[in-house]
Amino acid sequence: MDTVMTTSPTGDEEIYDTLYDVRKEAEDIGNYVEGDPYAAMNARRAQAPVQRGFLRQLLDLPAYHRQAGALDLPGYTAFTFAACEQAFRDNANLSNAVYHLDGSPPKTLGILEMDNPEHFAYRQAVQSLFIRPKAQKWWRQNFIDALVEDLVKSLEGRDRAELNLQLFARVPVHTITRGVGLRGEDALVFRNALVGTNASRGGLQFRMESHATVHRMLMEQINKRRAEPGEDILSWLIAAQINPEGAELRPMNDEEIITFARLILLAGGGTTWRQLGIVFGALLANPDQLEAVKADRKLIDPAIEESLRWNPTNPLFSRIAVNDVELAGTLIPKGAFLDICLGAANRDPERWENPDVFNLHRPFQQHLGTGIGAHMCLGRFVAQAEMNVTINKLLDYFPNIRTDPDAPASYITGGLEQRGVSSLHVLLQ
Ligand code: HEM
Repeated sequence: MDTVMTTSPTGDEEIYDTLYDVRKEAEDIGNYVEGDPYAAMNARRAQAPVQRGFLRQLLDLPAYHRQAGALDLPGYTAFTFAACEQAFRDNANLSNAVYHLDGSPPKTLGILEMDNPEHFAYRQAVQSLFIRPKAQKWWRQNFIDALVEDLVKSLEGRDRAELNLQLFARVPVHTITRGVGLRGEDALVFRNALVGTNASRGGLQFRMESHATVHRMLMEQINKRRAEPGEDILSWLIAAQINPEGAELRPMNDEEIITFARLILLAGGGTTWRQLGIVFGALLANPDQLEAVKADRKLIDPAIEESLRWNPTNPLFSRIAVNDVELAGTLIPKGAFLDICLGAANRDPERWENPDVFNLHRPFQQHLGTGIGAHMCLGRFVAQAEMNVTINKLLDYFPNIRTDPDAPASYITGGLEQRGVSSLHVLLQ
């Protein structure tokens, strides 16, 4: 009887252990939070919709902010659904230019750090690659279905598996890196470098080397696709037309394509991996709901949505006030920083009954797990397709799948930005 899978069809076994450890990632970054922060977030939300102070200060956690330079500014935090929704939607006053407060050059994160009208011009140009029908057909046919089939099939004959590393970590990174034309070992070298561009470890030199690797590998692929376009994301971006200057439509230049591809890779890899662990972990912990999903696969999407409400992988995003703005009765002065605690908003009892409970049968109400407004997650239908196909395939191959009672128990861990499961040990047969 084996304990874990030792080979993978993607041929890149050992890199996962170091790259895909939620807790270690948070400890390295410096934002690790011991235990479940939701009780403290709920208690804060009950006090006032918007409060003075950064989220971590208000939760009595050690000082840290994802955005360098933020802690030098006055901080506020929004907690209720209404306040967080308003903050996400009010991009005119609450700007996404939070990512380069430290003076680093803008545009390394592309549309995520842009405001209108520039944001609209770029997002509009790429939107049609990410609409629901495109995710469910083009993305599935070209990248997702075959990959997931191979990965799940490779578990056949095993008694047990640790799904978080052996399956879930691989699906998004390979979907996206295949999408830009990279395969196998190259994909992980690329992902490693991509994570390195933002890493706290290794210092400036490491970040610069990582940037150079990402740039070089993407440039090689762009040159290939310019010579011979195919069914892939880069060929599609090469053909896209934009007009950010408000003038005639024009194709994107190499730097614009690289920036955009890098954002898709960065935003789409870790998030979907972590959320997949959270949703499947919730199903395993609630066997009645797992049985319901096995019997009716149409319940997979509601389970995914419920996981994004109940435990979104990123419960915190931020904005900077570019004007004085009133938010749920509190004045946020121009120049102040706003933490949007969407995790607390997603458990607002004004909007959901028993909000702390994972219940895929609850009537759907829009949550903030993938944001809302102009910057609402561009890749959410792709993420949904990846998660849906993976869960479906797992249940097809392993209808008796259940928690392994002899292995370490799974729990949700990480920081306030990147949360995911510690591990997910299952019995397959
Ligand atoms: C379950 C997985 C995912 C979650 C929870 C998630 C969450 C989010 C959230 C909350 C935002 C809004 C950020 C803000 O308002 O500042 C966002 C933006 C974005 N996401 Fe996702 N995401 C996921 C998967 C993906 C995937 C698979 C892709 C790409 C294929 C992607 C691409 C993007 C992009 C490009 C943006 C920036 C959009 C803009 O600024 O207009 N995401 N995501």
